[in-house]
Amino acid sequence: MTEKELIALARSAALKAYAPYSGFSVGCAIESVDGEIVTGANMENACYRLGLCAEQSALTTAQHAFGLARVARIAVAGGDGSGEELQGEQSVTPCGGCRQAILEASHLSGRDIEIYAASGDGSVHETLRIRSLIPHGFGPENLKDADR
Ligand code: THU
Repeated sequence: MTEKELIALARSAALKAYAPYSGFSVGCAIESVDGEIVTGANMENACYRLGLCAEQSALTTAQHAFGLARVARIAVAGGDGSGEELQGEQSVTPCGGCRQAILEASHLSGRDIEIYAASGDGSVHETLRIRSLIPHGFGPENLKDADR
């Protein structure tokens, strides 16, 4: 699958977001090392701060479908999802919490997961790597000195 195809899946997934509070629909498509695909979208609720991001929604499905350790590439796109196609010109990079969740998958496999951060209309995207998005991140190896 090309970058553009994975981004197109993220854009379609965003149309299934439940984002009545922010009005900002985000979609995420994840490809496994074997080419399997899962998608997710953000899901908000009346207690604003408890909403779920698209990336974490898709990562949960990825864990069920093929396991976090097999995550290879992730596309994210966000914008106005009120019409038939996702709109918006600014690329969306994963928020801090989502970076932490992607880092966990990266630690499981030792793979520096590739991330395509795309605009809602898909016209622009940046190609990023999780280890550069969260430098000096806190990962499983930082728990070595735990009392157990
Ligand atoms: N959002 C995501 O789904 N992923 C991100 O990485 C950034 C933010 C969602 C959360 C909220 O529902 C909406 O976008 C506005 O912040």
